[in-house]
Amino acid sequence: MPPRALRLGVNIDHVATIRNARGGRHPDPVRAARMAAAAGADGITAHLREDRRHISDADIDRLMAEIDLPLNLEMAATEEMLQIALRHRPHASCIVPERREERTTEGGLDAVGQFSHLQPMIRQLGDAGIRVSLFIEPAIPQLDAARALGAPVVELHTGRYCELSGREREVELERIRAAAAHAEAIGLECHAGHGLSFETVAPIAAIPSIVELNIGHFLIGEAIFGGLDGAIRRMRSLMDEARGARAMTA
Ligand code: PXP
Repeated sequence: MPPRALRLGVNIDHVATIRNARGGRHPDPVRAARMAAAAGADGITAHLREDRRHISDADIDRLMAEIDLPLNLEMAATEEMLQIALRHRPHASCIVPERREERTTEGGLDAVGQFSHLQPMIRQLGDAGIRVSLFIEPAIPQLDAARALGAPVVELHTGRYCELSGREREVELERIRAAAAHAEAIGLECHAGHGLSFETVAPIAAIPSIVELNIGHFLIGEAIFGGLDGAIRRMRSLMDEARGARAMTA
């Protein structure tokens, strides 16, 4: 059996970070989403943070109205975000932990510890036809909790793997491999993301149980040097090479 296709979700948050540095309209994250679609992205990911430091409510309105690709709305597990997701009904909502003082999402959601808080939210999102994903550490108890919560998808946090080097990185990669295999075995769709770059993507893309990668910061940063289109195309081809290119065209 050929390996399954691997989707690329392009996270456009940091186009909005640059725009917000001057408070105007340029660069426009919706334009970046259009470029991502043309360059081979399978979906667009945007994190509407509670402090609106990058993506704004108006960006979400426009992404829903103007972009044909599925939108993966990253959100904290709050009542405000739940109501926004229910109003927009994006293709998917990825629930992430969020702390105001953090620079980016640090660590995965604690699906075990927050079980009773998450359960009604996941049910409401699911009832609205939104595909719920939980951004978790590659740890078996977290996967089992996601399954028990009825979330159809998990996204494994690859941040630690990207930050480590040498033997430590290998150990973390093995943890991600084992978690991805366990996710598949218990019937969860498995995604991965955070911190991925040209240098780190291939071993993650080669894990057959992972069907989607969400990548943002590196692509937007790399776009400064070679353009967004080229950065996304190169990422896509590194993913395809690692997975086995023939499966991509099947
Ligand atoms: N997946 C999730 C759940 C995230 O929170 C983020 C960062 O917003 C990403 C993927 C993308 O991470 P990066 O911007 O480091 O590629």
